[in-house]
Formats: sequence, structure tokens, C-alpha cells
Amino acid sequence: MTELDPSRAPLFERMVAHQRQRNASFHVPGHKGRQLDAEAAPFFGSLLSLDLTEITGLDDLHQPEEAIKEAQELAAACFGAEQTFFLVGGSTAGNLAMILSTCARGELLLVQRNAHKSVLHGLMLAGAKAVFLPPRWDTASGLATGVDPDDVREALRRYPEARGLLITNPNYYGLGMHLRELADLLHAHGKPLLVDEAHGAHYGFHPALPPSALSCGADAVVQSTHKMLTAMTMGAMLHLQGSLIDREAVAKCLTMIQSSSPSYPIMASLDLARRQMHTQGPKWIRQGLDAVAYFLDKLDRLPCYETVKPNPGRETGRPSYDTKDPFKVTLSDATGTLSGTELQAQLERRGCYAEMATPHHVLLLFSLASTLEDAERAYRALEDICGEFGLQKKELPYERENIHNVPRYTRVSPPISFDLPFPVSGKSEQASILSVHIDDAVGRRSAEMVIPYPPGIPVLFPGEPITAETAAYLQELAASGTRFHGTASGKLEYIQVMQQQSDHAGG
Ligand SMILES: Cc1ncc(COP(=O)(O)O)c(C=O)c1O
Repeated sequence: MTELDPSRAPLFERMVAHQRQRNASFHVPGHKGRQLDAEAAPFFGSLLSLDLTEITGLDDLHQPEEAIKEAQELAAACFGAEQTFFLVGGSTAGNLAMILSTCARGELLLVQRNAHKSVLHGLMLAGAKAVFLPPRWDTASGLATGVDPDDVREALRRYPEARGLLITNPNYYGLGMHLRELADLLHAHGKPLLVDEAHGAHYGFHPALPPSALSCGADAVVQSTHKMLTAMTMGAMLHLQGSLIDREAVAKCLTMIQSSSPSYPIMASLDLARRQMHTQGPKWIRQGLDAVAYFLDKLDRLPCYETVKPNPGRETGRPSYDTKDPFKVTLSDATGTLSGTELQAQLERRGCYAEMATPHHVLLLFSLASTLEDAERAYRALEDICGEFGLQKKELPYERENIHNVPRYTRVSPPISFDLPFPVSGKSEQASILSVHIDDAVGRRSAEMVIPYPPGIPVLFPGEPITAETAAYLQELAASGTRFHGTASGKLEYIQVMQQQSDHAGG
């Protein structure tokens, strides 16, 4: 094997060399590296010149032997994996492949309930069964965090046939758990720990950041390199280590899931993002952390805002999360004047676009590419909002603990079959499905995925009972302007439910 050189970006270098040779293209893509639209040329032109395909010398993602193989090997070395696959369909593709390669039809997987929709879609495509584990809840912020190791122990005892455990770590807000204990627990039962680390590709690259899932012993880890590192949108990686994952099955599944014409600019951006971390990771992370520290320091002067901080676990005796990503700032108006979505809109009026908002919070995402100027701009916008709404003159509520109606999921679920046919078409004329007003849905079973987006975590999956609490929560989200994926009605006034016996009685 040739010595790997971290300072090289083999795929990017091959693409640039090919482009510089000024070869004539008699292959796809049809744009031939030329931007024909004059208006788009200044923006798109240079990108298209590198939008290449599987020609001689540029390797093949589905059968890598040259530059892509080398780039993936470098990525494995950089992130601490034994094998790494480049993904051009985001962590979505990685989650699907992780599940499809672990579970055959009817097999059972332990799954953290507050998982991204791609995890539930993976269960559906695999026709697997899930035993859902409830998240811990941060009562101060109302946010769902990671699973409790005691629940994992209990689920492993009850379901020894489980194929493994799939968790999300960290969550969208950068809150996470210690993974070493979970990895050891799973390995003691001979089962793999699968981690959706979509929001943690930067973990482990600086002492101020939590350790990566791979360094804690996870067997398969999916990372959105495009989220917290610098790859292009859709660029992600699936890392593997140990002998509990069938690597050939993973490669086969990825061939089924991913395009046969994967984007070379995306793959090259993965190569470059890896090189950046491999050669200068801590330096760049420090630079980004300086921007967050500058922002938080100034924010301290505005007592009308509060941020999610480690919760000492006053009620439960244990913290609701163990690790926090310093790049994620979950902010709210402590005076209760502006909702999260209103605060987001006010920030946008001042040219600052946040990652997402809930009825209570705005999530500001910093990264290694953030600058002090960005931080100053966000602070100035918040200061201005404070002034416009007179927030600084308001009394802060005395008791700000446990303002949210949590928890919603509290128990390890029974096995739930995700075997098809699921009501994929979602058409209410289908005999077994009705569309009812959300007020009338309580007590029925949902016939659709109800996914507030972002963050893309399904509140309901098809077949799940709709409780009064869930209906009220969804109505609160809808009233605050949240967008929904998966539902026939984007505003969620109506919801598709499964028909039940009483619908036929008397009629
Ligand atoms: C926890 C989690 N997993 C997976 C995904 C999917 O990632 P991608 O957008 O890279 O496909 C997301 C997207 O937001 C996510 O939040």
C-alpha cells in the first residue's frame, strides 16, 4: 500500500489536472464544462468546468480503484475509521445504507425515538421492526436529547434478537451524550452501535469539542460533512470500524441508494474538507470558536436573551445531556415577548439568517468558517431588536425552569413493524385512510409521517397513535408557522389517519 499523504487531495488534484489539459469532451455532462446561460456564467462557470464524470483517470465511486479510493482512505485515516465511503446524497444516504445493511425484512433494531426522518425511511425500506427508546428531556429548554443507558440495557434484555442500536448524537442543537458506555454495552452483547453523527463531523478535532463517535467505539458512523465542516451541500461520509458491520453489504446498499452519476464537485469538496481538517483542523476550529466566544461575551450584556446551557439535572438528579457543541447557540427571548419564529424573522429583517427556529428558540449555527464580523453582526442585530421591542426594560420571569410540557415519549416502545405496504401515496381516497381535522384526530392512528422541518424529526409515523398532547404540540408548531414534510396538508389543519371500526358503524 502506498504511504498516505494528508496534504494531498487526490481526487481534487486529478480533476484539476484533467481540466487543465483542455481535453475535448465527448461524454456527459451535456454542458461540456461550459456555462451557456450568460446571466449564470459569472456564478456557475467555474463550478461547471470541474463538473466531470467517470472518465479514464477519474475513478468510479461505485468501484473505486484510484483517486476516489485514495481520497476515501485518507478520509478514513483522518476521521479514525477503518473504512470510509463518500456520500453524495447527504447523511440521508448513509442512514439508509446503515439500516438496510444491518436489518433484513422483519428484523429488529433499537432506535432512539427522536431520529431524523431518514432513519424511519430506512426502517420502511428495510421492512424492519423498531423498538423505540425515549430520549432524555432537558426540562429547562424543552429539548429532547440522547437516550438513557438504563433504557438501552432494558431493551437489550427484553429484545436479545435486536440487530443493534441506532442513535443520533449530537442532536440538532448540539446536545449529546457520552458514547463510550453505550458502545461497551452493545459490544458486550456482540451488537453494533450505529451513530447518526450528521451534526458532529467536526467532533474530536479540538480539545474544546466533544470526542467523535468513532473514537468512543461506534461501529458505523454517518456524518454530514456539509453541515459542520466545509464540504458542499449533500457531501457526507459513512465511516466503519470493527467486525460487526458487513462492509460488502454496506457497499452494495450504497450502490442501490446513490446515483450512478455521483457529483464530482461534491466528492472533491469532501476530499478538500478532509484535507483541511487533516492538516489544519485545530487551527480552523480555534478560529471559529473565537467567533462564538466573542458573540457570547457580547450577548452577556443583553440580559433579555438566554441560551441553552448545561442543565445540572435539578429534577432528575442527572444532567439531561453530557456534551454540548460550542458552535450551536440556542437562543430565546427571556422576557417572553418574541417567540422563536418571531425572533428569527426579526433577525432576517436585519440580514442575519438563522439555522432554524421553534416556537421557543432560534438556533444560531457557527462553524470553523465563522468570523468575528459575523459574530458582531448577530450581536448588533440582537441589540437592535432589544431596543425596538423594549426588551431590556422588561422584568425577567422569576422561575424559568420547566416551562415546557415535557416529556412526550417516556417509555421503551413495543416492537413496531415498518414492513411495507405503508400508505406511501397518502391519498385519502384510499379505502383505509381518512383526512380529519387535527382536533378530531386524537385517539386515532396517524396514516402519514408528520415531520416539522427543520429539524426533520417525525413527531408521528404511520400507525402511531395520536395523543391529545401530540395534537396540541403539532397545533402549537403550526400556529408558529412551522413547515411540515410528509403530510398531505402543509399547514396541518387536517391530518391523514387510519380508518377504524367506528368509521363504518352506522354508515
Ligand atoms: C440528525 C440528522 N440526521 C440526518 C440528517 C440528514 O442529513 P442530510 O441533509 O445530510 O441528508 C439530518 C438533516 O438535517 C439530521 O438532522
